[in-house]
Amino acid sequence: MSRIAYVNGQYVRHSDAAVHVEDRGFQFADGVYEVCEVRHGMIVDLTRHLNRLDRSLGELRMAAPMGRAALTFVIREVLRRNRVKNGIFYLQVTRGAARRDHYFPAEGTPPTITITAKSTDPSAAAKKYASGIKVITLPENRWDRVDIKTVGLLPNVLAKQQAKEAGAQDAIFIDRSGIVMEAASSNVWIVTRDGELVTRPAEHGILKGITRTTLIDVAKKLGLKVVEREFKAEEMLAAREVFFTSATGICVPIVQIDNKPVANGHPGTVSSSIRDTFFDVAEKTAI
Ligand code: PDD
Repeated sequence: MSRIAYVNGQYVRHSDAAVHVEDRGFQFADGVYEVCEVRHGMIVDLTRHLNRLDRSLGELRMAAPMGRAALTFVIREVLRRNRVKNGIFYLQVTRGAARRDHYFPAEGTPPTITITAKSTDPSAAAKKYASGIKVITLPENRWDRVDIKTVGLLPNVLAKQQAKEAGAQDAIFIDRSGIVMEAASSNVWIVTRDGELVTRPAEHGILKGITRTTLIDVAKKLGLKVVEREFKAEEMLAAREVFFTSATGICVPIVQIDNKPVANGHPGTVSSSIRDTFFDVAEKTAI
């Protein structure tokens, strides 16, 4: 079965899908995106993802490509055509194609929209949950509007590659005063010795993850205390558990940071109980 992508109003074969050579996403990273999980034929937290897309577009004064109902229809259609039951969709909107010029293009230039979908193997995720992952820390070097989900991800790409070359799987950005920001494509959480769940405030300095927001609902349901405050790298290294949240990994245990074990070096019980409850609490939209 060939994969299908949606590009500016058309469903095309994935291998033929293309945008204009002067698309501003390609030339200036002048675009925003969303990644949303699909599990057992259900889109997870679609409303929150589309709300954040609207916010990202608004912050960059970019036009929405279509209304919410039409967009939801197209997303579901892409998932159906690709027969995704477990996987993700990726949606990108850019400021459109125009002769290369840093100024915004002429009023009325249509935005570019692309949507792709792919299946993922749930057993690969299960393996990751069972073993946990190793990470490195790196100095924060991103711009200060990382709260907008733009496709300008070069520092994140370099950080992940550096992690890979160091024998780890991911990287955590630490600011100049030692405060933990977030990982290259996830938010960071710790479980303190007192059993509190701590994550840094998301008003600025990090992307306000949708998984993070839903996890706060999950913690409430499980009777766990969530504290939104900054924490330093030393506190993270001394934590009982450390885990990442993102739409692609949900809740991934971190077992090693800069070659030092987290607690006993094995995934903890809090992250696994959160994972078990996550999909009961999250919004589910049938494909
Ligand atoms: N990344 N922080 C960053 C920098 C991210 O790129 C992401 C998501 C998150 C978590 O957000 P959410 O819970 O809404 O997925 C935090 C996606 C998955 C990606 O770029 O592939």
